[in-house]
Amino acid sequence: MNEQEGNNLHEKISYTSSMMNIKRMSPVIGAEVIGADLRSKDQSEFNNIREALAEHSVLFFRDQPLLSPEEQVTFATQFGPLHAHPAAPAKEDNEAIFVIKTDSKSKIANGNGWHTDVSCDKEPPLVTMLQLHEVPELGGDTLFSSMYAAYETLSPRLKAFISKLSAHHKSEHVYRGRYSDRGVTDKSHYPSSIHPVVAAHPLSGRPVLYVNPSFTTEIHGLSKHESRALLDLLFTHQSRLEFQVRFQWTPNAIALWDNRSAQHFAMWDYWPQPRRGHRVTIKGAALEQGNEIDSKYYGNLRLSSSRL
Ligand code: SIN
Repeated sequence: MNEQEGNNLHEKISYTSSMMNIKRMSPVIGAEVIGADLRSKDQSEFNNIREALAEHSVLFFRDQPLLSPEEQVTFATQFGPLHAHPAAPAKEDNEAIFVIKTDSKSKIANGNGWHTDVSCDKEPPLVTMLQLHEVPELGGDTLFSSMYAAYETLSPRLKAFISKLSAHHKSEHVYRGRYSDRGVTDKSHYPSSIHPVVAAHPLSGRPVLYVNPSFTTEIHGLSKHESRALLDLLFTHQSRLEFQVRFQWTPNAIALWDNRSAQHFAMWDYWPQPRRGHRVTIKGAALEQGNEIDSKYYGNLRLSSSRL
């Protein structure tokens, strides 16, 4: 990116489509959508949201009405067929809904670590939609990090090396016993898959760094020590503050995120207060190897030299 393009990136803080205003929240990732009605049947409004999601990786909608499970499912289904969670219990009256809830009795909270949703599946979900109905007075933010930026800001030699690798994504350590408090009995086995370390985004074709500390356990073809060291390096790099946006929830706000180009982390800093809502995930395809490219988009970033 040349200097002129870099300047334009900062100037393009917001733009207005025919019906909604989209306001960027950081130079790298995330935008707030103002004036959208997610219950609307207007195809052009949905197309604008889909394009905005592809551009910003995560979208936030405040001042939304509390969506019924049917309304949430109707909106989400416009992206494609829904994904069924391999371990979590479905809501009794609507099996597409995953109830997110934490309260004073919780021993664990969903998503309290960097991850992309269910990356242990062979075909992990592409998009997730979460509406929180009850939020703590303080805390409970969700952080998102750009995996486009994480890949592109690696050195050309490391990009070349990891572009040929694949990694195991396992889930038994995440899911065994996880939902026993909701009456779920353990299964005999849990999903595990191998995905490319650098994947091609199915819509943009751009490479993303596709490893995460919650599910990715080892890199195929390296020794245990090499794999651990490389994963630690990639996990540290991909959680750099420069790649992130942080969302402070308000009641009934909605977040819509892309599980290929973004990772997220749901901060559990509000115990014993309750936080609850409904999550729906949309199916994705198996990941394909990404092509090596030089950085084109993040010339504006000046990465801090401090170790995080
Ligand atoms: C998750 O889907 O990982 C939970 C996100 C959140 O509760 O903010």
